[in-house]
Amino acid sequence: MRKMRETKYPNLKSLNVFYKEHRAKVVLFALFTLLAGALALTFPFVLSNILIDLTGGNYDPMVRYALMLFGLVVLTAGAVVIAEYYYSKASNALFLTIRREVAYKTMSMRLSTVYEKGSGFFLERMNEDTRESSAVNLNTYRAAIKLVINLGFIAYITVLNPLLGLLFGAGLVVLLFLEYLRVSRQLENMKRSKRAIEKLKANEVEILKGIKEIKGLNAKDPVIDKHTVVSSKYADIKYSREIFQKRMQGIIDIVKGAIDLMVILFAGLYLLPNGMIELAAVLIIYTYKGNIYGLIAGLALIKDTYDNGELAAKRINDIMRAPDKDVDSFGNVPLSEDIDTIEFRNVFFEYSKEKPVLNGASFRIDGNGIIGFVGKSGSGKSTIFSLLARFYDPTDGKILINGADISTLSGDDVRREITPVLQDSYIFNDTVMNNLLLARPDASADEVMEACRSAWIHNEIEAMPDGYDTIIGENGATISGGQKQRLEIARILLKDTKVMLFDEATSALDKNNLDKINDLLIELSKTKIVLVVAHRLGIMRRCDKVIVLEGGRIIASAPHNELMESCEYYRELFRKNTSTEPRLDPGAVP
Ligand SMILES: Nc1ncnc2c1ncn2[C@@H]1O[C@H](COP(=O)(O)OP(=O)(O)OP(=O)(O)O)[C@@H](O)[C@H]1O
Ligand SMILES: [Mg+2]
Repeated sequence: MRKMRETKYPNLKSLNVFYKEHRAKVVLFALFTLLAGALALTFPFVLSNILIDLTGGNYDPMVRYALMLFGLVVLTAGAVVIAEYYYSKASNALFLTIRREVAYKTMSMRLSTVYEKGSGFFLERMNEDTRESSAVNLNTYRAAIKLVINLGFIAYITVLNPLLGLLFGAGLVVLLFLEYLRVSRQLENMKRSKRAIEKLKANEVEILKGIKEIKGLNAKDPVIDKHTVVSSKYADIKYSREIFQKRMQGIIDIVKGAIDLMVILFAGLYLLPNGMIELAAVLIIYTYKGNIYGLIAGLALIKDTYDNGELAAKRINDIMRAPDKDVDSFGNVPLSEDIDTIEFRNVFFEYSKEKPVLNGASFRIDGNGIIGFVGKSGSGKSTIFSLLARFYDPTDGKILINGADISTLSGDDVRREITPVLQDSYIFNDTVMNNLLLARPDASADEVMEACRSAWIHNEIEAMPDGYDTIIGENGATISGGQKQRLEIARILLKDTKVMLFDEATSALDKNNLDKINDLLIELSKTKIVLVVAHRLGIMRRCDKVIVLEGGRIIASAPHNELMESCEYYRELFRKNTSTEPRLDPGAVP
């Protein structure tokens, strides 16, 4: 058994490390289950004695028997309650531990892997697979203990009458075969079913995330059509499993009926007339025959539990033991000094094969200041920021921080010192305060408020129903686009990193707030390296340097005024941008 477990259930075995801290609970569970089982096994013996006495007309010990039986009931119930208490305690603690590890590991996966696999992949593994695999060992102990009890009962019958034992034995072999068929088919169906439910959940997550778009586009019909397609695939698989199970259950019940019949015929026509067995024994066997069938069910349950658990554990290990290519990789060289230089040296990058996004981008930033990035939509501006934030690795070329290859630097150091405000930033479904504290959990309330004052959002937060304790809904659903952006800016101010990347971080601001935030960026750039991509190009006039991108390449890099002279591409972009919104643009060229 041990050898088989090692070879056949490697994934399940790999989760055993999590059992260590909960060992005491598991042992107590097993002990009390064993006790409950042993007590349960005494019932048929006591009952058969009672019946023998009753059928023999001996009524004297009835009160004693009744008390004994009641005592047994109480003891068994007590042992079961305690065993179940430890079962719940241990399985829930394990569930929590494994789930936490899976969630943590998920956050270490490469973005490209996360996007490629989709939310359903991770949700199912964090939830259902974790739940299933965390109870495997406990369920197996439970089934194994039950098995021993059932075996004890069969031994009891065999001692009473070997022929009867043999008859049951033969029936059990048939049942065993049927159960084996049932469980084996179930596993294959389970694999398909899990894949289908993953897709269904991902679809449902999208419905919730896109609820505004669905309403706004009046798109309930096409969305429900897609949901129906995904959902029916799952329903088909579930249906075929249920039908198969029911059919097998029918056959199994018929076989059980046949065994019953043979036992009755055998006992009634042969054993009893020939005085080979007592009527009481036959009655007890008949009453407790469920235990015998329980033996088969127990065996099937162990196989079922292990097979399903192994499948769940394997799916958990898709995350826990993901190949290196799917996991964020950093070096361990510490960033010993403040970041002073950033260099892209001939950087190439593609999100998917054969679709280059950066084609040998090179630029260098020396010392504090504010650097603008300008280029048409899709030219690779956000991609440059994503590479700096280490969301992705370049396919070729180097990114150097203080002269060191960014991939050799410690991940914590890089992420502590380079922080993006993303074009598609996310606000969590929590209070304003907790959203801000994400950036610096140890910040004081005063520091948080100071950051919010600098980002010109403090007064609006104070005016919310619960001030800083107001819950703002998933992705800031209950605040305005401009408020969300200023909250994101406050978040990065609180983090106070050396390098700040603002990717369209002001696109939703009105002119008043835009002016104030632009002033803030200029102020920040005196002590920090501030990189800016802006929807409205006015700020470029105030940048120390503007880097111009075209088709994933840097075609020019100079201060605004110089570019206006020397770079026709930039001049065109700037003129078009500022002339369409002259009034909104604080820095529009006169
Ligand atoms: N996660 C992704 N997976 C695949 N392709 C992507 C991904 N993100 C961006 N792209 C593609 O990479 C190219 C560059 O995108 P990027 O977001 O860097 O452009 P951008 O200059 O920031 O554009 P915009 O001004 O519209 O924000 C685009 O063609 C885009 O479709
Ligand atoms: Mg972008």
